[in-house]
Formats: sequence, C-alpha cells, structure tokens
Amino acid sequence: CHVSMSLPSASQSQSRLKYVSLGVLVLQTTSLVLTMRYSRTLLGEGPRYLASSAVVSAELLKILTCLLLVFYDHSFSVRALNRVLNEEILNKPMETLKLAIPSGIYTLQNNLLYVALSNLDAATYQVTYQLKILTTALFSVSMLGKRLGLYQWLSLLILMTGIALVQWPTESLGGPSSKPLSAGSQLVGVIAVLIACFSSGFAGVYFEKILKETKQSVWVRNIQLGLFGLVFGLIGVFVYDGERVRESGVFQGYNSLTWTVVALQALGGLVIAAVIKYADNILKGFATSLSIILSTLISYFWLKDFDPTSVFFLGAMLVIAATFLYGYEGKRPAINHSKV
Ligand code: C5P
Repeated sequence: CHVSMSLPSASQSQSRLKYVSLGVLVLQTTSLVLTMRYSRTLLGEGPRYLASSAVVSAELLKILTCLLLVFYDHSFSVRALNRVLNEEILNKPMETLKLAIPSGIYTLQNNLLYVALSNLDAATYQVTYQLKILTTALFSVSMLGKRLGLYQWLSLLILMTGIALVQWPTESLGGPSSKPLSAGSQLVGVIAVLIACFSSGFAGVYFEKILKETKQSVWVRNIQLGLFGLVFGLIGVFVYDGERVRESGVFQGYNSLTWTVVALQALGGLVIAAVIKYADNILKGFATSLSIILSTLISYFWLKDFDPTSVFFLGAMLVIAATFLYGYEGKRPAINHSKV
C-alpha cells in the first residue's frame, strides 16, 4: 500500500515540474523576444556590442548559476560541491567529453543565428526557423525511438504552419522600417537558418538522450555543456572579432539592454535544460510557439509596433488547436499505462 501511495506522488511531482518548466519557458522566451524587439527599435550610439562576446557572457553566467544550484542542492557545503565537481566532472572525462558534441553544435548555432538575423528581416528569420519543429521530431523518432501517432505528426505540421502565419505579416506591416537586404545576403541568411534548424533538432535530442539515459544531475550536465560552450565561444570571439577586441575591448558597446539580453539568454539555457529533462524537446517547441503569440500580442498592446491581421489570428488559432491535438493523442498511452 505504501508503495502504491508513493508512486502517484512521485509522478505527480514529475508532472508538476514538467508544467512549471514549460510555463517558465513561455515567460522566458516571451521576455527575450520582447527585449530583442525593443532593442531593435533603439538606435544605439557608439560601437555595437559584439555578438560573439554576448554568447560568451551568457555562457559564463549560466555556468555560475548552475554552480550555485549544485551548491544549493548540497546544502551550501563547499566540501560537497568540491567533491561533486571532482567526481562528476574531472574524474569522468569521457562522460564530460560527451557534452562537447551538443556544445560545439549549439555554439555554431548561436553564431549562425546572429549571422541569419543580420542578413534577413526578423519575419523571414522567425518563419524559416520554425522548421526546427519538424527536424526535432525527426531526430526524436530516430535517436530516442519516440513513437508519434498520426494525430501528433499532423499537429506538428499544423503547429509549424500556424507559427509561420503568426510570424508572416509582422514585419511587412508598420514596425520600424528595416534596411533593404540584397538577394545575396538573403540567401546567406536562409542557409544559416536552415543549418540552424538541423543543429537545433540534433543538439536538443542528443542532450535529451544524455539526460534521460544517465543519472547525473541536470545542473552538473549543464556545467559540462557550458564549459565546452565557453571554450568554443572564446575561440569564436578571437576568430570573428579578435581585431575589434584588441581595439575596443570585449565589452565594447554593452549597455543595460545588452546585459538584459545576456541574462535572459542564460536563463533560457537553464530553463531549456529543465524542460528537456522533465518534458521533452517536442513539447518545448509548443511552449516557444505559444510564447511567440503571447509576445506578439503584448507587443501590440504595449509597444504598438504591430498590427494584428486576420492571418495572425488564423495562425494563432492553428497553434492553439495543434497544442490540443498533440495532447489529445498523447493521453492515450498514459491511460493504458495506469491500467497496467
Ligand atoms: O533554438 P533552440 O531551441 O535549439 O535553442 C536552444 C538554445 O538553448 C541554444 O541557444 C543553446 O545554446 C541553449 N541551451 C543551453 N543549455 C542547454 C540546452 C540548450 O544553453 N542545456
């Protein structure tokens, strides 16, 4: 009786963590989109901040926060922290090395997305990047053996179409006028986004495989990921911006808004890790899609830089319908499972 009483509560707390992490992801993505959108409307003075340096700052902040979380998990004992870092990271080089793969890919991806954003308008960038919903599903099926029903595939297609419609009209109507982009630079931008779609799907699912198939804590895994991210990111700074760093320093052009974006990006890394652990990469796609709708609506009511059209509402309806359709099919195995 004891066992059967404790089982539902363990699965209940798992399911609570799942929805809490998904909810926080919606809030984090919404704030990040709004801050980036807001920062685009401001014309800064002096040199722009270096994107490669922002990537490194976010990585550092993420590692420090994860260290703090491991410290907290061990009742703020310095000895225990030391032991965990030694045993789990230094003394298990092969386990640590596994994280070099997603980390290298994420670093490439983070830099590719900056390339994409500087060569494409925001709408095209956002619409094309939604293809990662499908690449993520394909990698989840092939690498994790996840089984998706017909309704779930259908719902992913509807989600992708819906979020593409939601993104489509935003830039062509109103909004700050963007500079015209040449066809060549558009092509560079689209290729960068397409590579990012594959890297996003693969790295996310690879990280999910590591988290779900081994026992190490998600924060220790994140430190391992972050350490490689830091190394790759620093290489990026020297390769892309070495000259500029020598001229004006690593933190040139940083302002409070830059720090806000860096902090939100670091928070994103933490929340995404939690979502991948307690939910999965596919549900993460739904959470970020919903947050895009939310941020667009907030942007309409507060920043007044967007005029929602019927296409936006059609897209939003599709995203919401897809969310329900995916959950509808997803409930069935759970019912069978509890009967067993
Ligand atoms: O677009 P996508 O969902 O693939 O973006 C994931 C982002 O989350 C990447 O920028 C990656 O660096 C970050 N991430 C992280 N820590 C994790 C997993 C992902 O910082 N554990």
